[in-house]
Amino acid sequence: MPLCNFDQYPSFALVNACVVTCDGEGDSPRDRLGIIAPGVVLVQGEKVGCVGKVSDFSFDGSIQTIDVQGRLVTPGLVDPHTHLVFAGSRMDEFQAKMRGVDYRKIGQEGGGIMRTVRATRGSDEIALLKRLESRLARMLRRGVTLVEVKSGYGLNIGEEMRLLRLGKSVSEKVLDGNEVGVKQLPRTTTTLLGAHAIPQEYAGNREEYVNLVLKMVDLVSGHENGMRLAEACDVYIESHAFSVGEAKRILESAKKRGLLVRAHVGQFEDIGGAEMVAEMGGISCDHLEHVSDKALGAMAAAGTRAVLLPGAWRTLRQQAPDAQRMQRMGVEVAVGTDANPGTSPCFDLLVALGLAVRDAGLDPEAALLAITREAAEACGAQQAGRIRAGWRADLAIWDEVDPLVFGYALGGLEPRAVIIAGKWVLEHDGDWSLIFQ
Ligand code: NIG
Ligand code: FE
Repeated sequence: MPLCNFDQYPSFALVNACVVTCDGEGDSPRDRLGIIAPGVVLVQGEKVGCVGKVSDFSFDGSIQTIDVQGRLVTPGLVDPHTHLVFAGSRMDEFQAKMRGVDYRKIGQEGGGIMRTVRATRGSDEIALLKRLESRLARMLRRGVTLVEVKSGYGLNIGEEMRLLRLGKSVSEKVLDGNEVGVKQLPRTTTTLLGAHAIPQEYAGNREEYVNLVLKMVDLVSGHENGMRLAEACDVYIESHAFSVGEAKRILESAKKRGLLVRAHVGQFEDIGGAEMVAEMGGISCDHLEHVSDKALGAMAAAGTRAVLLPGAWRTLRQQAPDAQRMQRMGVEVAVGTDANPGTSPCFDLLVALGLAVRDAGLDPEAALLAITREAAEACGAQQAGRIRAGWRADLAIWDEVDPLVFGYALGGLEPRAVIIAGKWVLEHDGDWSLIFQ
């Protein structure tokens, strides 16, 4: 029996749930998880009507109630950092890396990011869209309802715009049933990453390429058919990519034009990018394998999130950053997949989370916050990452009863059902059996 037969946007209530709102106040992770058990989530149309204790509700039969038997109901998960629009694989580079070849050397010899740029430029629209949809469908099956999607494998105006348009077009898309059980894809929020690498055409003329990125910023911050192609602008700040000065020019222009600003910083060395992004009021600094106390202090003061990307430190065999140090200094931590064919062939946010707990020392109890509310803040997503009355009803129902499970399991968790904007978009039949009992 399917859990729910609703096709459109009716009202219904999930009752007897362990509701993990991720919307609590307080210093301890438990408080911030905001657990209400046994709880109710009332969904009205596309939104959460109210959330509360079972004892505060009485139902008169006018509304469908679904007894979830103590299971966890969480916000839909949020992946705050992906490079999902790409063609081709770099499996052979992975093999070389495992044999000890340096990632940056592979890039200098024509592989790396530029190899994916060539494959992506050569791939037609339909093929790119199919790949993107299939990756997003996999993410939905892990309970992810919102995904940040970067450009960055186009590196000229036409190609970068094409990738952003694809990233936007999948949002709201209802699938034709090709992906078993998935009726709709996660929503997306898009980020311009024109400053991902200097393309060969501009080798020897960096400034001209930076000027081209400034043109991209102009274009995406204008409106096309009433909408912006990107909500945010990202720069890869590293000595083999863009300098702090170059990034500052790009991000200042983006900020002036109303885009949110963020950056890849400290993946290989700390060249001062994090302070600059924090001082500009950036929403996130991502990677941070190398970061100074001063930069963390600036991030804490500005409310800039740290986005940990375990898939990348695992592929590059790096020492993980120290999440506890970040949190002690007042920096909120989010976790993303960094899904890309080079440094992070990972499409499973829950595996990334498990690695962040183990390798970076992220508190297992706080782990869920890193892929819900903090992830939403890190990518500037509105009405996402928390269960709150009046917000969009993006929810996941799990065959689990303790939120600690998200930091404990290393993958393998799948939601029983996923709801996006009040609509039942994925559901599994079968026994309600727990993995851990
Ligand atoms: O987040 N660091 C830069 N960008 C990606 C890697 C992209 C690639 O190698 O294709 C990252 O790790
Ligand atoms: Fe990345």
